[in-house]
Amino acid sequence: MKKTVGGLSVLLEGNQKKKAMIFIHGFPYDHTMWQAQIEAFSEDFYCVAYDVKGLGSSCVGDGQFTMESFVDDLEMLLRELQLESPIVCGFSMGGYIALRAMERMEEKFSALILCDTTSKADSNERKLERADVIRRINAQGLNIFTKSFVTNCYGEWYKKEHKEALKKRIAKSTSFNSIGVKGSIFAMLSRTDTTEYLEKIAVPTLLLCGEHDTITPPSVMREMAKQIKNATFTLISKSGHMSVIENPTEANHAIKTFLATF
Ligand code: MLT
Repeated sequence: MKKTVGGLSVLLEGNQKKKAMIFIHGFPYDHTMWQAQIEAFSEDFYCVAYDVKGLGSSCVGDGQFTMESFVDDLEMLLRELQLESPIVCGFSMGGYIALRAMERMEEKFSALILCDTTSKADSNERKLERADVIRRINAQGLNIFTKSFVTNCYGEWYKKEHKEALKKRIAKSTSFNSIGVKGSIFAMLSRTDTTEYLEKIAVPTLLLCGEHDTITPPSVMREMAKQIKNATFTLISKSGHMSVIENPTEANHAIKTFLATF
């Protein structure tokens, strides 16, 4: 079932009485990136997957977003949907949101799943690259940017074997509102570093990373896992940055195994 909650477009699947799992997508994507996970987990969990503001079908408003406003939206969703101690699962930008949400209100969650993400804030170099992307989107529109950015997220094997699926992802991202896309870029480049909080995370945590992820590489996520007390790290084979799409069988197996431990 689809619903709009406080400007967020939300997909709700499964039985509301079951434990909730809340899925937060990456950039420049929307909730549809979680299709394989929602199919796999909606029998045993109440799956909530929403579009982050500015992306997908959620409202764009004035396009002025920060990581704080993204966490405010998540908090609003927990309140409005009355989700009690959900498991939060964040991919890349969604992981930035989940990590900052942990720092702000860990007591509201029962477990954390981080996919292909990092606790580090953007380096100066990365901030400048993002500023250049905003400049290029202003000059050329979204087309050229989404084609190269989205393509770069996938590993070589997927790019060769799933040309049509990749084309569809690029087309979807290109259809987003450029004001919302630029707003999300700004929220990412201005986010704080959550690394210091890692050692304070008390909830069970799973970290997944595609073996060929060059955006948030396995070495970075292994390091994060070492700092979190109750953490499991799983490397997803045959996958670039988009592990949950590129190898859903392994990613879902890792999530299922993790969920069975508590
Ligand atoms: C994402 O997948 O969400 C982005 O690659 C994150 C980023 O650009 O930092």
